[in-house]
Amino acid sequence: MQAVILVGGQGTRLRPLTLTVPKPMLPLMNLPFLEFQINLCKRHGVDEIIMSTAYLPEVFQGHFGDGASLGVKLTYVTEEEPLDTCGAVKNVEEHIRGRFLVFNGDVLTDLDLTALIAFHEEKKAKATLYLTHVEDPTAYGLVPLDDDGRILEFLEKPSPDQVTTDLINAGTYVLEPELLDRVPAGDRYSFERQLFPGMLEDGLPMFGFPSDAYWMDIGAPAKYLQAHCDILDRKLPFDFEGREIKPSVWVADGCDISAEATVKGPAILGPGCQVAAYAVIEGNCVLGPGCRIGEGARLEAAVLHEGCTVGAGSILNCCVLSADVTVGERVNISGEAVLGGGVVIEDENDLRHGIRIWPGAKIPAATLHF
Ligand code: GDD
Ligand code: MG
Repeated sequence: MQAVILVGGQGTRLRPLTLTVPKPMLPLMNLPFLEFQINLCKRHGVDEIIMSTAYLPEVFQGHFGDGASLGVKLTYVTEEEPLDTCGAVKNVEEHIRGRFLVFNGDVLTDLDLTALIAFHEEKKAKATLYLTHVEDPTAYGLVPLDDDGRILEFLEKPSPDQVTTDLINAGTYVLEPELLDRVPAGDRYSFERQLFPGMLEDGLPMFGFPSDAYWMDIGAPAKYLQAHCDILDRKLPFDFEGREIKPSVWVADGCDISAEATVKGPAILGPGCQVAAYAVIEGNCVLGPGCRIGEGARLEAAVLHEGCTVGAGSILNCCVLSADVTVGERVNISGEAVLGGGVVIEDENDLRHGIRIWPGAKIPAATLHF
């Protein structure tokens, strides 16, 4: 079967990380996020994937090429202007040969795709949507069902008083190709606000497949951090690479960890990381390739992309550093702070409360107590 992955969004809720890297290519456990979706597809025999790109399109093909190294065939189609979720699929129609899958490009899941497809066939549905349970559905598409699993309504981003169920659209669909006849070519068109509500109005068979499989939309900093913690906690399958130097501490080649440093699990260190004496890496840390952690620094629940430097005595807790960030000495970074690529934070700054620093910025010593 074929799959279309929607990867054209700008990922605004993850800025500044997404100013230079499109959301589906952000590193998760030091791998581009899309690898997780591609591997899921592959595990279920879906080996032909069409990437629907619009924002920073060259990054995808530049990294994955034709997909051969991952054992799949990848085709890229780029929109001149973003066509929204369903318009983006209409735009790849010429590549589609039959029943197919669609994925939002920011959903981390280990859903049983084979079971989803079998359910779709059994119900003779035109569209089947994977559904998951969430505490607050207002940030998602609300999908109430009848007892047979038929979808009664599709309400995108409902207001609190519209919430009648905890089931939401998990962003993975099985679709019959003739549905694309309902979609105008070359225009913006939305699955959530147009195609799905329109199909329900016309009485077409649309089913929901609720599942308790692991599910996370990584599209906001707290969720992106949580996805790392969940994989480190083994809430979904992952092939840890490198050497497990002690339980749940995975270290790639070329790392230099001082005998006086402490690394507690779960954590992974990418290739060529350096950890100086008396530094403490607490749980839930992911260090990208070539990160350097200074003497006595402490890190917990921190995600550092490639090439970051953390100075002596600095404390990082619950934050994300994009590639090549330099943090001076005795700096505190916490509270889901997000630092863009190449940011320099000089000594003795204090960054908290979800602060976001744009790429290339330089914060002089002892100026920020946010
Ligand atoms: N090619 C292309 N073109 N892709 C797009 C475009 C576009 O114009 N607009 C959005 N996308 C892609 C994004 O890259 C993302 O992978 C996916 O479509 C969904 O967009 P988001 O911006 O992440 O939507 P959302 O998270 O607010 O809501 C969607 O996902 C929820 C589950 O996470 C909806 O499908 C909700 O109904 C759903 O509950
Ligand atoms: Mg999303």
